[in-house]
Amino acid sequence: MNILVVGGAGYIGSVCAELLLNEGHQVAIFDNLSEGHRAAVDRRAHFLKGDLADRDGLVEAVARLCPAAVMHFAASALVGESMRDPSKYFRNNVANGLNLLDAMVAADVRQIVFSSSCATFGLPARMPIDESFPQRPINPYGESKLAFEKILRWYDQIHEVRFISLRYFNAAGASEKFGEDHRCETHLIPNVLKVALGRQPHVEIFGSDYDTPDGTCIRDYIHILDLARAHILALGAPASASYNLGTGGGSSVREVIDACRKVTGKKIPVIEKSRRFGDPPRLVAASDKIKSELGWQPEFQALDTIVSSAWKWHQRFPNGYGD
Ligand code: UFG
Repeated sequence: MNILVVGGAGYIGSVCAELLLNEGHQVAIFDNLSEGHRAAVDRRAHFLKGDLADRDGLVEAVARLCPAAVMHFAASALVGESMRDPSKYFRNNVANGLNLLDAMVAADVRQIVFSSSCATFGLPARMPIDESFPQRPINPYGESKLAFEKILRWYDQIHEVRFISLRYFNAAGASEKFGEDHRCETHLIPNVLKVALGRQPHVEIFGSDYDTPDGTCIRDYIHILDLARAHILALGAPASASYNLGTGGGSSVREVIDACRKVTGKKIPVIEKSRRFGDPPRLVAASDKIKSELGWQPEFQALDTIVSSAWKWHQRFPNGYGD
């Protein structure tokens, strides 16, 4: 298939594009490189530097490329920033996303795979989180993702654009070629590995007084290759649907740091700090729906495997993409 990967120079988009290419699909990557990196664009893909805010340019690009489907990864994705600058989140993640949908309808492109988030669930009362849980976001980032999920339902009903929304839990790890390099790094695993590389003196643990076994937050870390596989399966989905995407296992911040110590053989000093604003204590996915409906199975569930892949990538590219 001919696939347009929007945001394909970012962390998750680059690995999905790589997998699509490995599977013989044709890939065009559309990215404004505000968060993404030119070096994260697979050489086999056609690259178009463009911005979703440029409605006319987008309409022209989608019509020219005429893809069979779109994968939409381009978004602002920092919870804390969204609490300070909600406008950026609703503009980038909702308004600019609408430009993409309208360009698709104009070009008769009727299939989209959308990067949604567990942040659409807010503070769920129970774990693990399945698709029947109420979606009540507690920050503008989660709200913007939920708003786009709702818009997709209407575009399906009115314009017959088939959608699959994938609600990621904590994407982690790397492929051989592409890994996690955010300009502003807030994520746990890359921050811990920076300490292992000697680029930071210590890791900060944000909160050690949560109601969890070791007092630190629990997250469901999913290998980026398993996440990418779900996108490939989504292309063959028979009908529109939303799926939660995690492994069903939870690891605490301390467990992640221990896994990093084991994998890297480094000491990794920590400093305990106060809680980070807006962090839910525990987020774990139930992914039975995508397993039964699309046949998805995570292959790389073990935390050590996830951390090892990230460590390999960070050792190979200690400066990330260097831009
Ligand atoms: N953490 C630390 N120290 C750090 C970085 C993170 O203790 O240096 C902690 C956080 O407080 C949190 C856990 O490690 O408890 C995981 O934090 P991340 O920033 O790696 O991931 P989040 O769970 O906050 O974020 C993820 C996605 C977001 C998404 C969010 C939904 O990366 O895009 O889940 O809650 F919005």
